[in-house]
Amino acid sequence: MKRIKGGKMGNYQLIATAAMGLEALVAKEVRSLGYDCEVENGKVIYTGDEYAIARSNLWLRTADRIKIKVGEFKAYTFDELFEKTKALPWEKFLPEDAEFPVVGKSVKSTLFSVSDCQAIVKKAVVEKMKQHYKRSTWFEETGAYFRIEVALLKDVATITLDTSGQGLHKRGYRVDQGEAPLKETLAAALVLLTNWKADRPFMDPFCGSGTIPIEAAMIGQNIAPGFNREFVSERWNWIPSKVWQDARTEAEDLANYDQPLDILGTDIDHRMVKIAQDNAFEAGFADLIHFKQMQVRDISTNKQYGVIVGNPPYGERLGEKKEIENMYKEMGQAFNALDTWSKYILTSHEQFEQFYGRPATKKRKLFNGFIRTDLYQYWGKRPPRQNERIQEK
Ligand SMILES: C[S@@+](CC[C@H](N)C(=O)[O-])C[C@H]1O[C@@H](n2cnc3c(N)ncnc32)[C@H](O)[C@@H]1O
Repeated sequence: MKRIKGGKMGNYQLIATAAMGLEALVAKEVRSLGYDCEVENGKVIYTGDEYAIARSNLWLRTADRIKIKVGEFKAYTFDELFEKTKALPWEKFLPEDAEFPVVGKSVKSTLFSVSDCQAIVKKAVVEKMKQHYKRSTWFEETGAYFRIEVALLKDVATITLDTSGQGLHKRGYRVDQGEAPLKETLAAALVLLTNWKADRPFMDPFCGSGTIPIEAAMIGQNIAPGFNREFVSERWNWIPSKVWQDARTEAEDLANYDQPLDILGTDIDHRMVKIAQDNAFEAGFADLIHFKQMQVRDISTNKQYGVIVGNPPYGERLGEKKEIENMYKEMGQAFNALDTWSKYILTSHEQFEQFYGRPATKKRKLFNGFIRTDLYQYWGKRPPRQNERIQEK
């Protein structure tokens, strides 16, 4: 990637936040962008320059946000929180007209009043800015947006700046949605957890608003998930616009729009099929992803070595449990014929395997929002290798 010649780049501690259970996937993505990282609960930590900020926002499919760690320190009293926050180099980050709201959270800490912590941090930053910009009056905050977060965990305060703006799951293609849409970050994670490659067929038999097929298509064509949206840090004066231009050019160069795809989304509800089509159109995949109204029990195909990823109803709503369990049984029967296909089903139903009719090859615990679910994996036969095919002939 072309970098700014002679330009002085910064060095930032970056945090890619991750939903519980997705940290390892986010770390894999961060490493494949070329940054060494460490994994902690709910976050992946690495260092990088302005390019790393732009590229992480554009490319990370499974992370929630990219934050800059401005500082971290122990804080048992409000005085400590104030002085240590004020000592941080805010002048490097915030221009004189910055809009800088402070949000907060506190877990197992002496300073448990979040609203007080927020007010103290705000006051400390204002004091530092007044000193630096030699002002005695209040700041109007009419400029670019810098959301500061103070997160206290066991008396350690971590102060961050959010570089993303809207969460990274907002890709910009969702024009409408059904009742229980998957977050785009989780849908991408489900696809990345399979062995699917773009030259194999892919199917989502419970496509709803189409999130899984659309994320699969973006992965299949190596399209940066953030390519069609803006990020709050694009308006920051200390990230040259060339950095964002270069990162977008890189994404454009790496996208493989010519990669053929065989992706099908089906759903029992024709209204969902329409919504999925509209979303796929918005994502630029109108002709590339096929959607069809169909019940899962009717699924059959002559294609081989494909991958199914599905997020069926979980049967948690009053009165629907029996019906859903019966549907799981029908699904198991329909999928039985697809022995070369790998199937990945996400549900919170603890007896899923019993109704589906087979124990999973592997289970992986995942959270769909606050719902604890398992990804039931049924691995299909491996495709024959090239020389095995020649011998068969
Ligand atoms: C949890 S939603 C899927 C949400 C989807 N992943 C998304 O991101 O929008 C489950 C979907 O399964 C569909 N469905 C329910 N029973 C079905 C059946 N027997 N066959 C096919 N689809 C079914 C529902 O219409 C619903 O759209």
